[in-house]
Amino acid sequence: MSNGSSVDRIRIFDTTLRDGEQAPGCSMTVSEKLRVAKALSELNVDIIEAGFPAASPGDFEAVKAIAERNLGPVICGLARCNAADIEKVHAAVKGADNHRIHVFVATSAIHREYKLKMAKEEIIKSAVNAIQMARELCDDVEFSPEDASRTELSYLAEVVAAAIEAGATTVNIPDTVGYTVPAEFDRLFRYLTEHVQRIDEITLSVHCHDDLGMAVANSLAAVVAGARQIECTINGIGERAGNCSLEEVVMAVKTRSEFFGLSTRIDTTRLYPTSRLVANITGMHPPRNKAIVGENAFAHEAGIHQHGMLQHASTYEIMRPEDVGISKSNLVLGKHSGRHAFRNRVIELGFDLDDFETNRAFLEFKKLADKKKDVYDGDIESIIMNAGSATAGPWTLKSLEVQTHTDEPATAIVKLIGEDGKEASESAHGDGPVAAAFQALEQATGVNMVLRNFELHSATIGEDAQGEVTVTVEIDGHSFRGRGASVDIVEAGCRACLEVMNRTLRRRSRGDSAADRSQSAHATI
Ligand code: KIV
Ligand code: ZN
Repeated sequence: MSNGSSVDRIRIFDTTLRDGEQAPGCSMTVSEKLRVAKALSELNVDIIEAGFPAASPGDFEAVKAIAERNLGPVICGLARCNAADIEKVHAAVKGADNHRIHVFVATSAIHREYKLKMAKEEIIKSAVNAIQMARELCDDVEFSPEDASRTELSYLAEVVAAAIEAGATTVNIPDTVGYTVPAEFDRLFRYLTEHVQRIDEITLSVHCHDDLGMAVANSLAAVVAGARQIECTINGIGERAGNCSLEEVVMAVKTRSEFFGLSTRIDTTRLYPTSRLVANITGMHPPRNKAIVGENAFAHEAGIHQHGMLQHASTYEIMRPEDVGISKSNLVLGKHSGRHAFRNRVIELGFDLDDFETNRAFLEFKKLADKKKDVYDGDIESIIMNAGSATAGPWTLKSLEVQTHTDEPATAIVKLIGEDGKEASESAHGDGPVAAAFQALEQATGVNMVLRNFELHSATIGEDAQGEVTVTVEIDGHSFRGRGASVDIVEAGCRACLEVMNRTLRRRSRGDSAADRSQSAHATI
């Protein structure tokens, strides 16, 4: 039995790589997805929804590559109710020992009438056929009636019963547009558990969006009413306002275990490092006051709170920072810190680097320590996230000189060193220092681009904090994202830009097409 009160474990189904990646600006390359999948397996999620293989060849390749790593969690792919989608998912996920096919079709009146133009019976037929087809390929099949929360209850119960009869092993109830409220969702789940025969033979799942800011609350209401799988994403990234945040829902179940009487298998000390990894890769950083992983989540400013904390932490703290993987010490390293101290800190921060990567990061750390007095955890994370790309040629930034003056165009001179030791030096003017420096980079590398987005984030506190820049640029009609970090924000922008230009030049010399490597939005559902 999967839903009864005797089962006290919640399965965590992570969809960062599928629903999360559908968020504007959050698309990832195959190698970035592999890094996230590895982090998710270390976090101990039960299921990774690795993508939507029919959406694009890139999505298919990413799901296949993740499945072939056989990381431990069940690897799942999403399909519409048609043979081509289902076969693509199966081909992509079958490399994993444990794999799942997830099929969905919309069921609400609005979707039936305006999107699908299908009658109620036709939708049930299409779901049943798809589930049966998927079951022929795989024992583990999930079904989702999209927009379930706006579907007539009695019809939803009919659809769910038919899905179970057809062989679905998990039935997921999505609040696709983030419309429901906890009390209403509780009623919906209780209605299903009371009216659908054999519902206790499958795992009942919940999938919430955050349009009204209630994704976590609605997911927890569903759990109280019998759901035993929660679909969620790291940092709550996802379509529009995002999905249910994994770190929040997991810590709610853990911190209030006496209320829920349930547990997850998540290693909560991996929450913060995983959040940082996803933020760094997507360039989408959680706000400072974000629960669990925001910079202020454990900061106590008010005197009265600080006084209470000094008497006993539990006065104002319901979780300990170390429970979610935030280091208590935020130990400061400096230019006299040696390789050993650096390596220990890297391990404590949750990174698993080989000797080559450690050496490369240590060299970057030494360079940074020469520029700024104190090197914080955020700096080390930034170095590690950017070390690989900073050193992958053909071009390396040798120097950058900018001149700005109010009322006059800015001038930039960039000097690059090529892999063959040759130097390229170019100067350019622009409305501001970033525009001038980017123009000079285009001239020096011969790669033309259109800047679509420039995001700046401070890696740590203080005036000498490193700026982390994420740029989104268009090259050859496709969208790419690059990252760079430096105490000088124009230099950070140049490093981000050069990362993309280098990738473009490597791709061109291999003869790959831009579409194979781009991060442009792929087909969504
Ligand atoms: O929000 C939604 O309805 C979905 C389904 C495909 C599960 O993401
Ligand atoms: Zn969704």
